[in-house]
Amino acid sequence: MQKQIKKVVIPVAGLGTRGLPFTKEIPKEMLPIVDVPTIQWIVEEVLSAGIEQIVFVTSRGKHALQDYFDHSPALEAFLRKRGKNELADKLQRIGSLCEVMSVRQKEPLGLGHAVLCAQPIVGDEPFAVCLGDEIFPPWDDTNRAQPPVKQLVQAFQKIGSSVVGVMEVPLAETKHYGILKIDSHPKESDAPFKVVGTVEKPQPEKAPSRFAIIGRYVFEPIIFEYLKSTPKGAGGEIQLTDGMTQLCGREGLHALQMQGCRYDVGNPFFYVKAQVDEALRRPELAQPLRDYLKTL
Ligand code: UTP
Repeated sequence: MQKQIKKVVIPVAGLGTRGLPFTKEIPKEMLPIVDVPTIQWIVEEVLSAGIEQIVFVTSRGKHALQDYFDHSPALEAFLRKRGKNELADKLQRIGSLCEVMSVRQKEPLGLGHAVLCAQPIVGDEPFAVCLGDEIFPPWDDTNRAQPPVKQLVQAFQKIGSSVVGVMEVPLAETKHYGILKIDSHPKESDAPFKVVGTVEKPQPEKAPSRFAIIGRYVFEPIIFEYLKSTPKGAGGEIQLTDGMTQLCGREGLHALQMQGCRYDVGNPFFYVKAQVDEALRRPELAQPLRDYLKTL
């Protein structure tokens, strides 16, 4: 029988230093792309993959992320009284989107540690992980593939091993990512392929491939045991990639190439790009923005 993925872990406890000073008081996962916060793009992606139990790994100062998915009766009533029913409906929908569970990461000890913090809620089931600052809109375009997390869940159900989403990046960029070690280059771009190891942020000359891990995963719960025994690695943090390398040598790890555009909103350039691309997708904004850009 196919194993179901019922829970997703979304780590949102990082310090977001690349976004300072903005991230001093506001979580980067709340950064809006036009008017939709990053975290909502991710939650909607997860829901569209049929996963309804959402676990935030949070930290001090991140309460806005959970509050955002709450109902706001006073605000909704205020809007309805003034005839702004469409806006009130929008807020009501957000309040009903999902139930969020949360667990605290008391110190930002790395992504591997953040995922490990979720073990008491996830328990002994396979689960998905989506990084809280990476988005892949718009997954509902007819031209594009399905939402990344949905593709990974389907691959996991087919092959029965943990699976990670990857994209090929230029060699010069490998130092920003976890990079895969592989035996042979996959022949088909849409089939899962075996991973033999991972390296955290290698310099181009040391990169074992150009396949970069892009913030979407499905794991067997054994990853928790590997993370517990993982010593602090690069940057004094417990790296998720180190736990993944242990998986490669035992239960196995596969990778699946993701299609579509990806934005790391923690990176100022990608954040601005996400804003422009999304504005150009909105009928009411596209033309005025084009006109404005022509004047520059
Ligand atoms: P990043 O490494 O991009 O986030 O982690 P960061 O550490 O907050 O950012 P910079 O590099 O200082 O700017 C990706 C995701 O994992 C979470 C972050 O909140 C982010 O959504 N994370 C990272 C944790 O939850 N805990 C950690 O210890 C590290």
